[in-house]
Amino acid sequence: MENNVFEQMANRYDTEERIQLAKVIVDEVRPELRNSQSKSLIDYGSGTGLISLELSDLVQSILLVDSSKQMLEVAKAKISRKGIANAKVLHSDFTEETPELKADIVLMSLVLLHIPD
Ligand SMILES: C[S@@+](CC[C@H](N)C(=O)[O-])C[C@H]1O[C@@H](n2cnc3c(N)ncnc32)[C@H](O)[C@@H]1O
Repeated sequence: MENNVFEQMANRYDTEERIQLAKVIVDEVRPELRNSQSKSLIDYGSGTGLISLELSDLVQSILLVDSSKQMLEVAKAKISRKGIANAKVLHSDFTEETPELKADIVLMSLVLLHIPD
């Protein structure tokens, strides 16, 4: 799927089916983040934040990175609506640029299949 598809579908991305799949993933990841209160997490290819915005209580900070501005707009609206103080978004494609970023934990969910190399 090309990235511009995500630009077009951002406002329709959070279907009940995707929300349920995200819950399955979140339930698996949460136990792995025990004792991570002092850690920073990058969610690469975060989309609308279905996964990482459900983990914000477990880590110190979350950076949602995505190459689709529209997906990040949806994520930003959720961050604001839910009052999540420790989450930020970054529009970036690491296959095109290499920003100076460090994190303790990198999470990717349903992303690598969209990256050719
Ligand atoms: C199927 S969605 C998964 C979203 C989220 N991780 C989840 O599990 O709900 C894939 C996401 O990867 C992003 N993406 C695709 N190629 C990317 C790239 N090269 N760099 C960053 N994000 C990318 C898309 O914009 C899209 O938001």
